[in-house]
Amino acid sequence: MAKATATADDEIFALRLERSAPDIWPMLDALYGRHPAFDAFRANLLKTLKKAWDARPVDLKRLDLKRDLEPDWFQRPDMAGYVFYIDRFAGNLRGVLDKLDYLTDLGITYIHFMPCLKPRPGDSDGGYSVMDYRQINPAYGTMAEFEQVTAALRARGMSACIDLVLNHTAKEHAWAKKAAKGDARYQDYYLMFDTPEMPDRYSETLVEVFPDNAPGNFTHYPDLGKWIWTTFNEHQWDLNWANPQVFLEIVEIMLHLANRGVDVLRLDAVAFMWKRLGTRCQSEPEVHMLLQALRACSRIAAPAVIHLEEAIVAPSEMLPYLGRGQHDGKEGNLAYHNSLMVQFWGALATRDTRLMGHVLSTHFPETLRNATYATYIRCHDDIGWAVTDEDAAAVGMSGPAHRGFLSEFYEGGFPGSFATGALFQVNEATGDKRISGSFASLAGLEQAQKLGDVAGVEMAVQRMLLGHALIASFGGIPLIYMGDELALPNDYSYLDTPEHVHDSRWIHRPRMDWQAVAQRHDGTSPSAQVFWGTRHILARRRAVAGLHAGNGTRVVFPDAGGVFAFQRLAPTGVVLCLFNFTEHWQHISEDWARAQGVSLMHDALSDHPVETHHGAVALPPYARVWMV
Ligand code: GLC
Ligand code: GLC
Repeated sequence: MAKATATADDEIFALRLERSAPDIWPMLDALYGRHPAFDAFRANLLKTLKKAWDARPVDLKRLDLKRDLEPDWFQRPDMAGYVFYIDRFAGNLRGVLDKLDYLTDLGITYIHFMPCLKPRPGDSDGGYSVMDYRQINPAYGTMAEFEQVTAALRARGMSACIDLVLNHTAKEHAWAKKAAKGDARYQDYYLMFDTPEMPDRYSETLVEVFPDNAPGNFTHYPDLGKWIWTTFNEHQWDLNWANPQVFLEIVEIMLHLANRGVDVLRLDAVAFMWKRLGTRCQSEPEVHMLLQALRACSRIAAPAVIHLEEAIVAPSEMLPYLGRGQHDGKEGNLAYHNSLMVQFWGALATRDTRLMGHVLSTHFPETLRNATYATYIRCHDDIGWAVTDEDAAAVGMSGPAHRGFLSEFYEGGFPGSFATGALFQVNEATGDKRISGSFASLAGLEQAQKLGDVAGVEMAVQRMLLGHALIASFGGIPLIYMGDELALPNDYSYLDTPEHVHDSRWIHRPRMDWQAVAQRHDGTSPSAQVFWGTRHILARRRAVAGLHAGNGTRVVFPDAGGVFAFQRLAPTGVVLCLFNFTEHWQHISEDWARAQGVSLMHDALSDHPVETHHGAVALPPYARVWMV
């Protein structure tokens, strides 16, 4: 019996290997074919894949089959994500188990555990400086406890996402330590130079990610006699992906994590993985070959797992991460919709949705194959005003002026601004100013409460629900950052925390407010209002089959400047989603709505009929409507 099972398992592996062969070998050939140890590498990779498959627990193999049968599992409208740091949410992994009922009540089916592998001590860039990929951060618990958590999630039909930081390791990682000791094998895992000549040449075209506190892209270590590539912080050493050994190591780690019950691997900062002289070293073609090959490895040895690619890049640069063009359907299953996020904040500040409509209709296809967006309004990172001069000009705006305005507006300096935020990484050379701040504070709640402005508080609540309704309907998996369902304000305690004070992103990574959770049932506090509003939005999302991410999203243009609109193109009929980005009433003609495919004049979000007066649909301030 046991023998028969093993044979069937081997056969499944062989079939999967065969299926994915065109996605993996040509990529690796192109990347590493000229490497002297290429044949050994290929053989080792095969061994690694088979070993991981053999070690895969039975219940995960069952999940593999289940998802083979339901390949759209992550595109369904019952998917809704929630993102947190384990310590800030529940103390530790055991605490998380106690809080799952709360998340289920909210309607969450997917949890992104912010970096939870063992980080370097002290400042670890929020855990993105990893020293051991096989251990859980001891402050959170153990790998065994992590497996208990993923099993508990699985039992509830929930998915677990964790970060795989693969552009760099902490300089305290075992590989880096060996490299620092002079071990040539491990020095080849990183990008180390004996003289500043090449770093200087590369630097001519590189951009700086953290110009304030980690300027430049290289760090000189006089005691090692080396210049080392450090795109992010000094303690984050970039990996040398041109070395096939690095590929092999990461595949081993990736499948090891997959076998612990991880459903979604968030591949961090992928754009930076390949370096080419004379370029920005972002989104080079080899990055996509690497990502397609990594994806194929998961599909062979842990097919239940999907990849979320974190590439915060311009719209046209982003689509290949979702596997468009020659990697169609074969790269990331998920990628952050950074443009949707940026355009939400832009339209909210300007009360003008023209740029939003232009960007989202011209740069993004209506449908994606075997992939979808991670839609979000806030995450753990800052907001960079990724609006190109060309796009701004297309709607008669100046790019630099618009970006400058948005920074001022959300920092809170602009007269009339409702926002309270903090600057992040001001770059004097480029004029670039990024913004940190919680959803609630950027949406106006903090300021209105400080001023005792009751109407302002109400507007802030409506802005937050506008955002949550937008990401719940646009197409993709909505990701809610912890606390944004309760309108938690900015957290200024980072200013008193030595390892965080230089990094304003901690302003929007608060500790969970369990008192607010307990009080959500009574009262009409903004926090309770946002909670019930968000819970309702997710419940209605689950009820509206047309919101399935496989259905197309087509931006349409109503005759009202402050309204953003799109159709969800479901086979059962159109869902017309409307969002009023102003604090004024807006009117949409009923004829126009019907011409977009609306027939019942029913709002699937409120689950009430849409009322019309004199042939027009009236949208209150910050209204959101899903018309069918
Ligand atoms: C990603 C993370 C960010 C981190 C960076 C370096 O972009 O989202 O928080 O600073 O990678 O790992
Ligand atoms: C830049 C990077 C992104 C990172 C962020 C951190 O936007 O492109 O990967 O998350 O900086 O602030």
